[in-house]
Amino acid sequence: MIIAIDGPAGSGKGTISKILAERLGYVYIDTGSMYRSLTYLVLRDNIDIDNEKAIYEAFSNCKMEITKDCRNLLDGEDISDRIRTQEINTNISKISGYPSIRELMRLKQREFANDHSIVMEGRDITTEVFPDADYKFYLDASIEERTKRRVKQNEEKGLESDYNEIYESIKNRDLADMTREYGALKRTDDQIYIDSSNMTIEEVVLYMLEVIK
Ligand code: DC
Repeated sequence: MIIAIDGPAGSGKGTISKILAERLGYVYIDTGSMYRSLTYLVLRDNIDIDNEKAIYEAFSNCKMEITKDCRNLLDGEDISDRIRTQEINTNISKISGYPSIRELMRLKQREFANDHSIVMEGRDITTEVFPDADYKFYLDASIEERTKRRVKQNEEKGLESDYNEIYESIKNRDLADMTREYGALKRTDDQIYIDSSNMTIEEVVLYMLEVIK
């Protein structure tokens, strides 16, 4: 069973997909964390961000894993706490726009479904990675609501955050994610569309479970 979920930054995909996977007993895969891990690798090793071929080579030669408890390992090292920085957010769009990188990501992402039922979330999961998934959802929320959620998340982590800065960063990432030539975030007729702006996490999860039943 494959449940595919796409949506913009801060739409609640992560939290909701994780809970959904727990309730269904499926494996949860956050594909954004894979693009984040690769961006971390590029920055750490000073690889030229304009050099698609060099990035592809580094990606081909690294071992990227996601553990059962959703930790991101790069060549065996746990980098989960290092991939959610503003520096990564700023550089990720360029790297995730490269066609060869997206092709290899998709191959790796499809492998997760070989021996498990999965809930996978990202930007191109319903359209490119698993266009024939059993259930396809597009999770949305207004940009104002998504910014508020990010500010709250940061505060909970004890991080300082500026509303306007986060608003601009989300807006720029939306634009890059929705307009890139290859693997753009898209709405299609066969996705189940959910606007969660005025819904709680539990309400969204229950609605999805209802659809899946
Ligand atoms: O879900 P997230 O915000 O952690 O994703 C970070 C970035 O990774 C996002 O801005 C675009 C990229 N991404 C992508 O291009 N395709 C995916 N399937 C998932 C994420």
